[in-house]
Amino acid sequence: MANIILLGPPGAGKGTQAKRLEEARGMVQLSTGDMLKEAIAKGTDLGRQVEGIMARGELVTDEIVIGLIEAKMKDGAKGGFIFDGFPRTLKQADALGQLMTRMGATLDRVIEMQVDDAVLVARVTGRFTCGTCGEVYHDTTRPTKVPGVCDVCGGTNMKRRADDNEETLKTRLMEYYKKTSPLIGFYYAKGQLSAVNGLAEVDSVAEAIASVLDKA
Ligand code: AP5
Repeated sequence: MANIILLGPPGAGKGTQAKRLEEARGMVQLSTGDMLKEAIAKGTDLGRQVEGIMARGELVTDEIVIGLIEAKMKDGAKGGFIFDGFPRTLKQADALGQLMTRMGATLDRVIEMQVDDAVLVARVTGRFTCGTCGEVYHDTTRPTKVPGVCDVCGGTNMKRRADDNEETLKTRLMEYYKKTSPLIGFYYAKGQLSAVNGLAEVDSVAEAIASVLDKA
C-alpha cells in the first residue's frame, strides 16, 4: 500500500498512469480535475462556479479542491491513494500534509513526470476520453481499436475537453509553472521526490513508476 502524488504539467500523462496503477495495484485515483468536471456535467452549484475558470485554464480556489479531497479521503483506500492533479499549490500541499497526519497516513512518494512543453500541445489537442468508463485515448498515439468504440467498456460516447485547445493550454502551462512547479522543490527538500521520463512510451513510464513504488 502506498499513497503517492503524480506531479506534472497538463498532458504529462498523470491520468493515464493513474488508471494503470488502479488496475495493477488496487490503488484509488483522486483527480480533482475529474471531480470538478463531474460537477460541471451534473450542473451543480460548484460546477457553475468553476466552469468559466476551468475553461480559461486557470486554477480554481484552494478551498474548493481541498474540500473535495478531504471528502473523498474519508472513504479510505486499501491499496493507497494516487493524487492526480492535486496538490497544485503550496497551500494545497500543506493541507494534504495535515489531512494525512490527521488520518495517521503517510505520503510515500511524489512522482514528477518530466516532459517537454513541445509534446504537450499534440498530446492535449489529440486527447479524447470514453464518457462511460473514463478511459483516455489519443488520435494518433492511442486510438481505439474500432473507431468511436471504447476498447475497455464498449461505450460509444467519446468526449473531448473544452480546455484541450492550444490557446487554453498556454494559460494552463503558465499556471503550472507559476503555482505548481514550486512543489518540485518542496517535496525534493523533504526527500520524497522521484522523477520519471514522461516522454517515454506509456508502458515504459508505467514500468518506471512501478520501479519507484517497489523501492518506496
Ligand atoms: P486536470 O483535469 O487535472 O488537468 P491537467 O492537470 O491539465 O492534466 P491533464 O488531465 O490535461 O493531463 P494528464 O497529465 O492527466 O494527461 P493524460 O494522461 O490525460 O485539471 C483541469 C482543470 O481543473 C485545471 O486547469 C484547473 O482549472 C482545475 N483544477 C484541477 N485540479 C485543481 C487543483 N488541485 N487546484 C486548482 N484547480 C484545479 O494524457 C494526455 C494525452 O496524452 C492523452 O491523450 C494520452 O493518451 C496521451 N499520453 C499519455 N501518456 C503518453 C505517453 N507516455 N506517450 C504518448 N502519449 C501519451
